[in-house]
Amino acid sequence: MTFWNRRKSLDALAGQHPHHGLHRTLGWPHLVAMGVGAIVGTGIYTLTGIGAGLAGPGVILSFAIAGLVCACAALAYAELATLIPAAGSAYTYSYAVLGEGLAWIVGWSLILEYTVVCSAVAVGWSGYMAGFLDWLGLPLSPALLAGPHGGGIINLPAVLISLAVAGLLMLGTRESATVNFALVLVKLAALALFIVLALPAFDPDRFQPFMPYGFASVDAEGVKRGVMPAAALIFFAFYGFDAISTAAEEARDPGRDLKIGIIGSMLICTLLYMLVAAAGLGAVPFAEMAASSEPLAFVLKSLDHPLAANLIAWAAILALPTVILVFMYGQSRIFFVMGRDGLLPSALARINSRTGTPTLVTGVTGVVVAVIAGLLPLKEIAELANAGTLVAFVAVGTCLLVLRRREPARPRLFRAPAAWLIGPLAIAGCLYLFVSLPTATIVRFLIWNVVGLAVYLAYSARASHLNAR
Ligand code: ALA
Repeated sequence: MTFWNRRKSLDALAGQHPHHGLHRTLGWPHLVAMGVGAIVGTGIYTLTGIGAGLAGPGVILSFAIAGLVCACAALAYAELATLIPAAGSAYTYSYAVLGEGLAWIVGWSLILEYTVVCSAVAVGWSGYMAGFLDWLGLPLSPALLAGPHGGGIINLPAVLISLAVAGLLMLGTRESATVNFALVLVKLAALALFIVLALPAFDPDRFQPFMPYGFASVDAEGVKRGVMPAAALIFFAFYGFDAISTAAEEARDPGRDLKIGIIGSMLICTLLYMLVAAAGLGAVPFAEMAASSEPLAFVLKSLDHPLAANLIAWAAILALPTVILVFMYGQSRIFFVMGRDGLLPSALARINSRTGTPTLVTGVTGVVVAVIAGLLPLKEIAELANAGTLVAFVAVGTCLLVLRRREPARPRLFRAPAAWLIGPLAIAGCLYLFVSLPTATIVRFLIWNVVGLAVYLAYSARASHLNAR
């Protein structure tokens, strides 16, 4: 076995329970709330507009496609999470199933994903915050609301919220189930309010033509447009459900609760997202929605519901930072696990004895997240995050199938239904979404991984703890 395909032992990982001693207290309603809490964020609140700009009203179809692919990936996740109940999600599964080299690529991609997701959510938050400050009569200069790419200097609110969340994490803040539950209700109530107020203004003529840019096309400037490129962007709105699979060991009846938790939260989100998109796009021309940095509030303002527009903005301002919190926390977990395996210097994952948190890595992550959020436009950041996530999902789908073949008899707390259908669907769907991303995003992602491979070959392959064995 070469260094590239040496694997961690499944038995050793199965004995390494990160939630050791936790009680089985979570039923499916908790799991659905957890999933919806981590999933609903900038994707629906802001990217709906940008997605509509790419696909026209056909973005509704983009939501359905991305939701279906994510549901398949989520079921694969759940089976692996119960089979390999160790921290590190897709990276750890790949290490045990596909070998160190591919695990490295997945881990390196996850580092990018988690960092860039935080930046994207921070930029989405900034759009709503700016609208709110306007309403208060304290408008920020446009130069402080976008980076150089967007015609400004820096996106200041996005920088501040990134640093604030990193600060909270360094102090040891965790998601709290009660706060999460309350925020889930706020987020869902705001989206429901949006649908109720926007639907009466529905004009079917706005859906003509439904797919002005077709299913997948390239315009005169070389920009990929249509339903698939929009799905590749909108995909952002769906992930975060790994939060559910990591709670697998705390489920009362994992076989039933996980299935309902995952399929339930995906179904709720997909239907809700499609309704929000349909209501918004039936009420205002899609190009106008696409141009707004707070599209849902914009629609309600256009329909003369200023108070409701503010309520939506408050919901976003209140709830989006928790999405950043979840992903920044996940980022430090990935560093921690890769450090523990020897693939990254373990100093990166050192826990501060006073706060009990990896302060160094969290602080550095916070600064990187803030710089990206401050300087780059939302669409590009979200697409880069998607590239990393899609690669991780392809790996998870592959791990599911390989293990079904290699270890059919290993007991599974949760078995994904129709594995030979959902596994290939997840893999093929994610690959199709990946190639639908803008070419520039794919190139950036490849550069990130070339750098990663150089680090791996120069350092990690030798420093790996599996090297000594
Ligand atoms: N799904 C999360 C969001 O839309 C990342 O903000």
